[in-house]
Amino acid sequence: MEVVIVPDAESGGELIAEAMAQLLRRKPDALLGVATGSTPLPVSEALAAKVRSGAVDVSRARIAQLDEYVGLPAEHPKSYRSVLTREVLEPLGIGMDAFMGPDGTAEDVQEACEAYDMALAEAGGVDLQLLGIGTDGHIGFNEPCSSLASRTRIKTLTEQTRWDNARFFDGDIDQVPHHVITQGIGTILQAWHLVLFATGEGKADAVAATVEGPVAAVCPASALQLHRHATVVVDEAAASELKLVDYFRHAFANKPDWPQI
Ligand code: F6R
Repeated sequence: MEVVIVPDAESGGELIAEAMAQLLRRKPDALLGVATGSTPLPVSEALAAKVRSGAVDVSRARIAQLDEYVGLPAEHPKSYRSVLTREVLEPLGIGMDAFMGPDGTAEDVQEACEAYDMALAEAGGVDLQLLGIGTDGHIGFNEPCSSLASRTRIKTLTEQTRWDNARFFDGDIDQVPHHVITQGIGTILQAWHLVLFATGEGKADAVAATVEGPVAAVCPASALQLHRHATVVVDEAAASELKLVDYFRHAFANKPDWPQI
């Protein structure tokens, strides 16, 4: 996998947004997979700026959701569908007709999960999947020891993840749902390009385990090592536990003139 160390979250956001823009220039109806949380915000801000300046056209772009809380109605302000509407769709001017996501309120959750997996495949697969990473190494909400072959399904959040996400629920962990629907690791690995973005010291151990540790379900993000085109974009703080930083910097600085990531 390629590891790119950027000075800060803003430059990471710009780098990833430019990769999305390049993709959309060669494939205007590309399916972009997006994660929720704090980390991707600089990406959507940078991409929205490119749309405003006319540098990229997203009128045919499609957006796919990575995961969703179980039990929160779609219109609930904290549902990931609502968050993505506010933070991605509206700033980019993309309508709901170009959006796909799992139904967190389905009566038959398993059926909804299978339907979502199938819908992603029928849509031609995700072209570029943006991922964050949990402090415990989760991607999507595939918590430690998730099967590396898993498909979209219901998962139980760890207490650590519920504490980490309580900040989105007025700091009240009791409001954070226990269950989520998440694309499985096997599902995520089917995207053509995976871009994992991590910022801040709190992610440094998880990033080191992902990049330099063994491929192991205990660190779900380590499954990226099995992907043919995975890019890990980290700021200096998130890179602070990596041993091969000098090599990663050297390789990126000397990269031939093809798409940046
Ligand atoms: C959310 C998701 C999670 C987050 C991760 C990091 O859709 O897929 O894996 O990316 O929990 O969250 P932040 O970026 O808030 O630290």
